[in-house]
Amino acid sequence: MTTIETKATTPDEAWWRQAVVYQVYPRSFADGNGDGIGDLAGILSRIDHIVSLGVDAVWLSPFYPSALVDGGYDVDDYMDVDPRIGTLEEIDRLVATLHAHGIRVMVDLVPNHSSNLHESFRAAVAAGPGSPERDLFVFRDGRGEHGELPPAEWSSLMGDPAWTRVPDGQWYLHLFTKEQPDWNWANPAVHEYFLKVLRFWGDRGVDGFRVDVANALTKRLDDELPTQEELDTPGAFPVGDHPLFDRDDVQDVYREWRQVFDEYDPPLMAVAEAWVTPERRLRYTASGGLDQAFGFDLLRATWDPASFRRIIEESYALAERADVPATWVFSNHDVVRHATRYGLVGGGDENDWLLSRGAHPAEDRDLGLRRARAVTMLALALPGSAYLYQGEELGLPEVMVPDEQRQDPVFWRKGGKEIGRDGCRVPLPWTKDGSSFGFGTGGAHLPQPEWFAQYAAELQEQDPASTLHLYRRALGLRRRLQSAARMEWLELGEDVVAFQRPGGWCSVTNFGSRPATLPRGTVLLASDERGIQDGSLLPDTTVWLDLRPAATTQSA
Ligand code: BGC
Repeated sequence: MTTIETKATTPDEAWWRQAVVYQVYPRSFADGNGDGIGDLAGILSRIDHIVSLGVDAVWLSPFYPSALVDGGYDVDDYMDVDPRIGTLEEIDRLVATLHAHGIRVMVDLVPNHSSNLHESFRAAVAAGPGSPERDLFVFRDGRGEHGELPPAEWSSLMGDPAWTRVPDGQWYLHLFTKEQPDWNWANPAVHEYFLKVLRFWGDRGVDGFRVDVANALTKRLDDELPTQEELDTPGAFPVGDHPLFDRDDVQDVYREWRQVFDEYDPPLMAVAEAWVTPERRLRYTASGGLDQAFGFDLLRATWDPASFRRIIEESYALAERADVPATWVFSNHDVVRHATRYGLVGGGDENDWLLSRGAHPAEDRDLGLRRARAVTMLALALPGSAYLYQGEELGLPEVMVPDEQRQDPVFWRKGGKEIGRDGCRVPLPWTKDGSSFGFGTGGAHLPQPEWFAQYAAELQEQDPASTLHLYRRALGLRRRLQSAARMEWLELGEDVVAFQRPGGWCSVTNFGSRPATLPRGTVLLASDERGIQDGSLLPDTTVWLDLRPAATTQSA
């Protein structure tokens, strides 16, 4: 176990409260052995890149043994590493190396479901109805004369039915694919097992967890099961007592985990992935359980200053109530990259764009990148923690992966009605040439388009105006300027989102189509070098200004 000396970005009680966390999706980051799948050796070979960004922590998406039915979120063994990705020794080395650079490490924990290849699920199927093994998962007899009908006609979030039959006739529940059976959180043995998993990683020196589908886990499965329509009807169940999601009693699980987190010094941290309303999000942090929950509201916001202002305002109101800093996220491995989302012009959204295979709305990559750079700087200027997704520091757009090469079960199991998430999971371009743009010496498990060359990290290294340099500069300045204290709005017009921070600096973003007049101040950083002209901020640009009188010798 390694210890870590460095403090987080700003003096705040706990390291994570103002941290910038960089998400690594191991299979697509860098491939050390040339088999086309990213691995720990690959990550270790690119440590300098991560360090150069100036992030406080790395979150590793699943690297566990997995058949990859759902990109690794189908976990065969929570306490091991997939041999295609590496070994436990390499994880130890990665943790130690990141710690030596002052970077914390979070791992992804997937507690709602395992995989059908997990030894406990195999044992459950083998042991038969009524066995203690079977009770670790959610098994039921079917309906109909011979139990030939599922216990309920529910569909999983991946499109196919949510109940699957095993050879002896019983059915098991899976909210995701049939290869992802749900654990039975009504069984204390499941609780014990996960406490063991938490300690396994805590003892290895990991600093925290990202908790996958944190709003599922506990369920109320009465004899009489509701219909799908009832499940989907807002208000059909009292808040906190929906049979499947966001139940109040899931917090008991997290309170139990808290005790394990607090066995460590500093305590382990955990962030909830819970697609719930902002109001409900509070419960995941204010209950003596997990530390924070991703705020996905900005991620869903269109290029609209009023929405940005409202979401920021609401997020702070909630953060203050829960005494937990807000979290800011624009991209992750589940959504269309924000450089593409903000570049779709002419009506329609990213789902239309995906379904039309990129035909409409039209994608304006330059505009998308300008706006992505602008909103990233805006969010980095806000108090709270920020989660970045690998490749956004290169300004990568979404890739339109050809249908036949798609891997995401969402695409295949929904019969193409949803396109899925492969486009943001395409292996990163490190070099402008090479069989997989420097991802590895072999190919790439998802196809990289030709235009990836122009986004290569090696090219961006040489270009001071690149997105890569912008991220480094923004994170460097943030480290110096950031504080936990609240921001104050500045009124600079309807199209402008501007706020001041303690220490006399401010962030100004122009969402409009005309130049916006800037207050007097010294430019600290602009999302576009050519974005300031004659004291005005051009559209689609953010600038950070030092407003202190002594600093205004050089005017914006
Ligand atoms: C993960 C997805 C995954 C799902 C099931 C999500 O929240 O981020 O990638 O498909 O959980 O584990």
